[in-house]
Amino acid sequence: MLAPSSNLLRTPDPLRVKLVEEQVTTLRSSVICAFNQLLDLKDLNTGVHSTRLAEWGMRVGQELGLEEPELQNLEVAALLHDIGKVGIPDAILKKPGRLDAEEYALMKKHPEYGWAVLRMLPGFERAALDILHHHENFDGKGYPAGLKELEIPVVSRIVSVIDAFDAMVSSRPYRVGLPHEEAIRRLIESSGTQFDPTVVQCFISFAQAEMATVFAAAGTSVSSAL
Ligand SMILES: [Fe+2]
Ligand SMILES: [Fe+2]
Repeated sequence: MLAPSSNLLRTPDPLRVKLVEEQVTTLRSSVICAFNQLLDLKDLNTGVHSTRLAEWGMRVGQELGLEEPELQNLEVAALLHDIGKVGIPDAILKKPGRLDAEEYALMKKHPEYGWAVLRMLPGFERAALDILHHHENFDGKGYPAGLKELEIPVVSRIVSVIDAFDAMVSSRPYRVGLPHEEAIRRLIESSGTQFDPTVVQCFISFAQAEMATVFAAAGTSVSSAL
């Protein structure tokens, strides 16, 4: 019996390219889902918080006119910005109160831990850098590198604003979240010092109108945070 011609078995090139592209996209989504699941296992609040950030981050990124590849990095960085917290002991991560200096120093390692993991995945190198810098401050007083203003990647500047906002309005077992109006006031107050003013302006332009609906849908009632 004749062996089948290899030409007959070979898928036409454009189809093969499309197939490989689809496989890469699926693999990428699976990796993001798996890491997000890991965050949920470590600390449910962190996982839900990350999902909210991804939604808001994409809104801000689109409003600011980010290109598609940057938007993709933004989605990954928003979803996985705190992946490094997997390396923080539960006694610190879930401590119901203020961290002491030593604990806080360890907590501040989480952007580097996240970067160290994600940079090893092909295609996630840029998002890894964005995660590394998500706690930089616009005035250069953040960590880990003390970058300032436009030295900070735009994705990191976006994640920084919405991360802080979500942390302020979310309730914890040991404290109730702030009303979203107060959280917005604090964002404006720290605009230009902790936060990029352009990002703050962009975020609050839709946050003010929509937060009541968003939190009702997310199960975090605004009235319970008052
Ligand atoms: Fe963080
Ligand atoms: Fe966060």
